Amino acid sequence: MKNTVVVGAQWGDEGKAKITDLLAQNADVIIRYQGGCNAGHTVVVDNKTFKFHLIPSGILYKNKICIIGPGTVIHPESFEKELNGLIDEGIDISNLKISPLASITMPYHIEIDGYSESNAGKGKIGTTKKGIGPTYTDKYARIGLKIQDLYSAETLSEKLDIILPLKNKQLEKVYGLEPYTKECITALCEKYAELFKPYVCFEWQDLLREHKKDTILFEGAQGVMLDVDYGTYPFVTSSNPIGGGAATGSGFGPRMIDEVIGVSKAYVTRVGEGPFVTELNDETGDKIREIGHEFGVTTGRPRRCGWFDAVIMKYAVLVGGLTSIALTKIDVFDSFDEIKVCTAYKDKRNGQIYTSYPTDVFIHKYLEPVYETHAGWGVDITKIKEYDKLPENAKKYLERLEELLECPISIISVGPDREQTIIK
Ligand code: GDP
Ligand code: IMO
Ligand code: MG
Repeated sequence: MKNTVVVGAQWGDEGKAKITDLLAQNADVIIRYQGGCNAGHTVVVDNKTFKFHLIPSGILYKNKICIIGPGTVIHPESFEKELNGLIDEGIDISNLKISPLASITMPYHIEIDGYSESNAGKGKIGTTKKGIGPTYTDKYARIGLKIQDLYSAETLSEKLDIILPLKNKQLEKVYGLEPYTKECITALCEKYAELFKPYVCFEWQDLLREHKKDTILFEGAQGVMLDVDYGTYPFVTSSNPIGGGAATGSGFGPRMIDEVIGVSKAYVTRVGEGPFVTELNDETGDKIREIGHEFGVTTGRPRRCGWFDAVIMKYAVLVGGLTSIALTKIDVFDSFDEIKVCTAYKDKRNGQIYTSYPTDVFIHKYLEPVYETHAGWGVDITKIKEYDKLPENAKKYLERLEELLECPISIISVGPDREQTIIK
């Protein structure tokens, strides 16, 4: 296998973890390059379900190096909970490594996320309330704490003297929240230092050098349409899930990336607020949600469901840097007579047709989908392992998607289990 990035091609929850788990068999190193515990990644092996948030799903394999990379944000309490859950399941976590450059989500980041969501009115994003936005805000404002800061009392003290006066003023004056004393944060950081110590890779640069010739799998979280630069801004997350994000967020550099696999459902889901042109607020949407079990892994929220949208997918192929697509959940349509695919948007105001994704999301309320309809296949495909054995209508549907997206579909997923996969 070549060095591969697994990217969500829609608004997250496309089945990235299933594809990562599948490809991890042939990788030496699996690295998460962005996001934090806002992610909820499900892997099913032999009818057993594992849920991940921050720890790379490759950890299920022994002898694979699993790295939480520099571009991620780590909420210590959530990390501890996830880690203990894996240990309780008997999973060997001795190959887990944390980059000293990863950012830390502090308690005040969670508080600010909660406050902002409650007071945003129409601007509510529907975040996971895991402090992701405020942690990245501080990182880019250059007042964030990194894992490495926990291991130098002098650095930590100097940084807190810079950070806390600013943060406390903000907490009190802007948000009406309680300030933090230096003693309190220092004591917390001592606790965090103990928690992370067995996993922090202090020889970070050696680790990168050592694995330059190995096979690297970059595990993305969220998806292209949630990317802070390319997604449905401002209804996005605060990091770069796109293929290019793997280079900045891992430290392996762009020349180490050979393939970018975009994971997409055969339909679309979204959690949280923001535009969604093909959303179905009807019985069909409910049917997709029910058959596809579309409820969030991290927050349990019902996911909004809609038909496959070739307009956003073509955009994801372009800006996500996709070299091929893994299409998941096609089995959800087994009992559907008709399957729709959105090929363009039409502006209700003037009839204008968009085949390229319009990046001003505030006009999306005027857009309606232009659909083409495909006949369903009406049989259970969840046990099929070869492309040629798929029903003709399923093959026609897949070939049409490839044609519309101008990108090959390399993997077809017909069920949640590792085994329910067709490699084309
Ligand atoms: P991720 O965040 O992209 O890793 O995806 P999630 O784990 O949040 O959501 C994907 C859900 O779909 C999980 O419950 C998976 O077990 C499930 N899943 C993945 N692929 C398939 C598939 O091909 N068919 C079906 N029916 N379920 C799938
Ligand atoms: P995985 O990796 C789906 C969404 C939230 C919200 C927006 C911003 O499982 O695909 P944040 O907490 O990041 O500030 O929220 O992004 N969101 C996700 N939606 N899957 C995810 O992760 C998500 N992570 C964040 O619902 O709309
Ligand atoms: Mg998910």
